[in-house]
Amino acid sequence: MSNVLIIGANGSIARHVIDLFLNETDHYLTLYLRNSNRLINMEPNRIKTIEGDVLNIEKLKEAMVGQDVIYANLAGGLEQMAKSIVEAMDATGIKRLIWISSMGIYDEVPGEKYGGILDPYRKSAKIIEDTDLDYTILRPGWFTNIDEIDYETTQKGEPFKGHEVSRKSVADLIVKLAQSPEMEVRCSVGVNKPE
Ligand SMILES: NC(=O)c1ccc[n+]([C@@H]2O[C@H](COP(=O)([O-])OP(=O)(O)OC[C@H]3O[C@@H](n4cnc5c(N)ncnc54)[C@H](OP(=O)(O)O)[C@@H]3O)[C@@H](O)[C@H]2O)c1
Repeated sequence: MSNVLIIGANGSIARHVIDLFLNETDHYLTLYLRNSNRLINMEPNRIKTIEGDVLNIEKLKEAMVGQDVIYANLAGGLEQMAKSIVEAMDATGIKRLIWISSMGIYDEVPGEKYGGILDPYRKSAKIIEDTDLDYTILRPGWFTNIDEIDYETTQKGEPFKGHEVSRKSVADLIVKLAQSPEMEVRCSVGVNKPE
């Protein structure tokens, strides 16, 4: 049983992750999000909600106290967000970080070049890779809403396989990572539906 802080808890993947944590684990969740009215707390015994911006480092540090795993599900100015999370983790001594990025940040998708649009993803991944945290960076393919758990993974340095993956599959992997302190530590992992 551990404590998991979910930053960006209203994100599309995070909402699947929350359901899976509640249904399949006994973990306690702290949901950190900008507008807490957007989520209904179905299980007040296991879920705490904190309203805050990821760039508010003092609030983030407070939210991190007592957590075992930090799972960041963010979009937007990812470089600054990564810096903020790393600073708060360093200050609070928490090591385990699961960070959602995107396929294509290492130009690893055969036949595709995504160019500057992925720069925030590249720069934020680099910030995390340059720390001594026990990070796992996930690089999923295009999300689908198919109700299935069906995925395979590739490591940094290998070509990405496939193109898409269901949100539910990414959520399944995140919950497994949060339960397994040794799994894919200091790895950047591509996630796709097998073709
Ligand atoms: N769509 C795809 O096919 C695809 C494929 C691969 C990777 N990705 C990437 O995977 C990541 C996760 O995807 P997703 O669909 O779950 O993302 P999402 O639904 O866009 O969620 C991102 C969350 O980040 C939160 N956020 C943004 N700025 C924040 C801040 N300053 N402080 C606190 N929270 C903040 C947003 O909060 P609010 O609710 O307050 O706006 C939102 O809930 C994204 O970076 C996405 O681009 C997407």
